[in-house]
Amino acid sequence: MDIRAHNRAAWDRQVEGGNEWTVPVTAEAVAAAKRGHWHILLTPTRPVPREWFPPLEGLDVLCLASGGGQQGPILAAAGARVTVLDNSPRQLAQDRLVAERDGLAIATVEGDMADLSMFADESFDLIVHPVSNCFAAEVRPVWQEAYRVLRHGGVLLAGFNNPAVYLFDWDLAERTGELRVAHALPYSDAASLSAEEKQRYLEHGDPLEFSHSLEDQIGGQLDAGLVLTALYEDGYPPDSTEPLNKYMPLFIATRAVK
Ligand SMILES: C[S@@+](CC[C@H](N)C(=O)[O-])C[C@H]1O[C@@H](n2cnc3c(N)ncnc32)[C@H](O)[C@@H]1O
Repeated sequence: MDIRAHNRAAWDRQVEGGNEWTVPVTAEAVAAAKRGHWHILLTPTRPVPREWFPPLEGLDVLCLASGGGQQGPILAAAGARVTVLDNSPRQLAQDRLVAERDGLAIATVEGDMADLSMFADESFDLIVHPVSNCFAAEVRPVWQEAYRVLRHGGVLLAGFNNPAVYLFDWDLAERTGELRVAHALPYSDAASLSAEEKQRYLEHGDPLEFSHSLEDQIGGQLDAGLVLTALYEDGYPPDSTEPLNKYMPLFIATRAVK
């Protein structure tokens, strides 16, 4: 099946449904960022440490699979020259909405995170890639393309899922709170579900997700030529109803340098 086409339509619908990762930052947050007070997220709750960023003024920044009017507008308000690439036209429209509302210059590009051929080698000083590679079937091409379009000394900030989250039967967990191991890794919404489960899933219209091993997430960045300099873990807020959240951090953020 055409994963990108499915996920494009699915994320467009997430915008209509008000999914929290599609809700743009406020005008107040943009105004504060223009005064130097800002933070962004790569994962649900922990702000990215400020020391992870190079000085932003005049920097070429790619927000990779990062539509929704969140990271892009804040970094543009903080002085960077921002390009947002995303597969969902509606997510990109959220970035344009903030840019027009708050007088920011943001370029938006519809495309695939694994194919950055529209950008020349060494086009960016910083790439910001919040949790989104779970929507791509393969992650190593994402790291290879990120490496190619980064300038030497450039920084890649990435958030991703711990693959252990995909072990469980999420249909059951959402209905009953029970965590039952059901899937071998690597997991794929397109291939790991029974025909009946997959049909139910597709009818629901959610984006298709894929687990990636830590070897591909972390080793893949190293194999692409990047040097990892920092890492932290994160979860949903403590009062989240997500059943696995109280047992382990579900997300990882990394800082890597070319
Ligand atoms: C959870 S949202 C992340 C963006 C959000 N700004 C945030 O703060 O996390 C996942 C994003 O990945 C995008 N996406 C999914 N598949 C993609 C692909 N193959 N290439 C580029 N973007 C993709 C979706 O359209 C969606 O905007």
